[in-house]
Amino acid sequence: MSTSPAKDAPAAAASHTADKQAAFAKGLDGVIGGQTAVCSIEQDKLIYRGYEIHDLAAHATFEQVAFLLLEGRKPGEHELARFKAELIAERALHPAVTSFIESSAGWLASGRAVPMDVLRTAVSILAHTDPECQDNAAPAELRKAKRLTAKIPTIIGHMQNVIDARAIVGLERGGDPTLDHAANMLYMMTGKRPSADEARVMDVSLILYAEHEFNASTFTTRVISGTLSDMHGAVCGGIAALKGPLHGGANEMAMEMLKEIVNDVGEAGIGTSKVDDWMNNAFETKRKLMGFGHRVYKNGDHRAGILMGLGKKMADSIDNAGQPTFGALRAPRWFALGEQVQKIMLDKKKIHPNVDFPCGMTYFTMKIPVPQYTPIFVAARITGWCAHIIEQHSDNRLIRPLSIYTGPAEKKW
Ligand code: SDX
Repeated sequence: MSTSPAKDAPAAAASHTADKQAAFAKGLDGVIGGQTAVCSIEQDKLIYRGYEIHDLAAHATFEQVAFLLLEGRKPGEHELARFKAELIAERALHPAVTSFIESSAGWLASGRAVPMDVLRTAVSILAHTDPECQDNAAPAELRKAKRLTAKIPTIIGHMQNVIDARAIVGLERGGDPTLDHAANMLYMMTGKRPSADEARVMDVSLILYAEHEFNASTFTTRVISGTLSDMHGAVCGGIAALKGPLHGGANEMAMEMLKEIVNDVGEAGIGTSKVDDWMNNAFETKRKLMGFGHRVYKNGDHRAGILMGLGKKMADSIDNAGQPTFGALRAPRWFALGEQVQKIMLDKKKIHPNVDFPCGMTYFTMKIPVPQYTPIFVAARITGWCAHIIEQHSDNRLIRPLSIYTGPAEKKW
């Protein structure tokens, strides 16, 4: 028997809402947001385009991984040489970008802007200097991805020179063309060429940070490019998302947290129950401890162990060389504290460190200023973001999820 649509409406609406409630997951936790050939994250494995992260960290360079992510295959010898030459040729910045960076000195000094903000604006200006910025075709996007990969370390280097009130290092060519990508970024930041060890540790950290599937900032770039907006605009969105302390900003906050612990317990407190007391207080106040936990990994972040090992080895070597302390402690003491905090988190909360925890200590040991940790994360993740943007544009469907309405019931105006 046919019933009037009006009579059926409430039942239909109720079942529609029930279906939506069933499909709802706050923060899209566990929700499949799309398909990708770029990266696979499982509890037991992290894969970039088929290659496992431990294999890449041990045997590849960042330039090889950047090529792998952007082109979709491992580069041959000649392809790699050409790719490296293209990056070197594109390192220098347009004067409009450099003069913006120089003009940001006051905002950086006053704290009105942090380096992630200046990086975001610099990339936005970079778009105006890129002749292909409105072109979403794959060949143009690959060229733009290389230019962004080449220039972001230069923005970071010039910005650090401005913060240090020193002359811009490598203004003409974007650093030293004889140095590889990671080493040149460190050189531009300090004016000093890094040791082979420092260059390799930075290179591996860039490999570890390069790509991570549908994390918040990458998904942001896919949502923006999913409207057929341009690569630079999507990257600006990615930078804004990565800045947050729940995401990339955690590497800076993790180091600040360790400095806070040392400030509270003193160097003599490291290794004692004073650190346990500090952590218990953090647990009681429901404080989020930076550099720990992960939305996907519940048995540990594959990358954290790799970087912890490299960072610790570097700290021990620096201390053996009897180099001066930095911050309040000699280098290995930071790692001793880090290992104690890790153990307490695991024993008490069953929460593992993510890649940002060892990153903080490692970059601190390399005397990199803390506010540059997340910009360096961008210098790596730009390759993953661009790979996803190119993939989204090549097989696009607008990304537009639903929501459950919790506002007031319908009423007359
Ligand atoms: C990155 O997604 C990616 O792949 C990101 C990334 C990448 O490469 O792109 O891996 C990089 O962003 C790593 C994460 C960096 N962020 C941090 O280190 C910030 C601290 N971490 C937390 O805020 C948290 O672990 C998140 C945000 C990373 C994940 O949070 P979820 O999945 O939303 O989990 P949750 O906040 O719901 O926590 C579940 C429980 C909660 O306890 P209850 O409230 O249920 O009692 O675990 C607790 C949380 O309080 N918890 C923590 C904690 N992380 C989770 N408690 C204290 N400190 C923490 N760090």
